[in-house]
Amino acid sequence: MLSDSFGREVSGVRVSLTDRCNFDCVYCHNEGLGDTRGPMDARDHEMSADDVVRFLEVVEEFGVEKVKLTGGEPMLRDDLEEIIERTPDSIEVSMTTNGTFLPGRAEDLVDAGLERVNVSQDALDAEDFQALTKSGAYEKVLEGVRAAVDAGLDPVKLNMVVFRKTAGYVPEMVDHVAENDALQLQLIEYMPEIAGHPEWAVDIDDVHGWLEERADRVEHREMHDRRRYYVNGGMVEIVDPVGNEEFCANCHRVRVTHEGYLKGCLNRNDDLRSMGEMSKAEIREAFRETVENRVPYYGEYMVENGDGGWEVNDDYVEVYADGGTESAD
Ligand code: 5AD
Repeated sequence: MLSDSFGREVSGVRVSLTDRCNFDCVYCHNEGLGDTRGPMDARDHEMSADDVVRFLEVVEEFGVEKVKLTGGEPMLRDDLEEIIERTPDSIEVSMTTNGTFLPGRAEDLVDAGLERVNVSQDALDAEDFQALTKSGAYEKVLEGVRAAVDAGLDPVKLNMVVFRKTAGYVPEMVDHVAENDALQLQLIEYMPEIAGHPEWAVDIDDVHGWLEERADRVEHREMHDRRRYYVNGGMVEIVDPVGNEEFCANCHRVRVTHEGYLKGCLNRNDDLRSMGEMSKAEIREAFRETVENRVPYYGEYMVENGDGGWEVNDDYVEVYADGGTESAD
């Protein structure tokens, strides 16, 4: 397995298959790229299935064990089953989806080799769901979650971004997963750095405190410094990267944009690395370079500017531009 300059082994990749989406969630950071979304038609700059598979074959050589397929909405790709089917057997395949296309297709995905799924579900009310996602597909999402469970994906994780517009739903969502054995809840701290609206953020420590009071048991997972709470038989995990150095210290993942650029950190876009024509040799070299150039903590890269917003810390970019390891001021 390849390790970066800070001792982090890269054991997982997260591959965006498209930036197209049938939702328009108000909070979306679009895998750290910001708002690149356009028309719903397939675009020719998206990686082909062959490109994605070639990439996965190369990272398998480097010992990568997991791939998370994401978007945009990855289920807008007609060749999703083919990509999953052709992923090397040693790599575990999971996917993050808005769930609307799971009914009628979940089983095919499982047959192709999909092992786990995260479905974005931020509210338990059709009207609020509509306001958050700009989509009237609330019932379809619930149906999609059921289809995933029925197809044997267990657990199905519900992703809920916690911010001003959703925080009130945390108690109901916790009960919801407690009542459904196959469901787990992943509460994701709202990341405003690229999505904007810093005023929407809530203090995630309050959510930790609320869960701690109610939990029968609390676990700490090293991967991304996550805490897990067991409440009334349900499992709730908090993902809280904002201002969390430990989170980055335990990040073992490299990303690929839908256009086939390597991305060493969710919150950085100044170091996107091309894989050229995506021959195996080019992929190998670009992947090694991306791993070598990973930075230790994005919170030093994006800094608060005093007006409640975030901006790029140029000093930091300069220090790491040469692969330097000193810390920036
Ligand atoms: N902050 C936190 N999580 C986000 N997601 C998307 N945008 C944001 C944001 N600004 C999460 C959603 C989605 C996953 C792909 O990324 O939970 O399910």
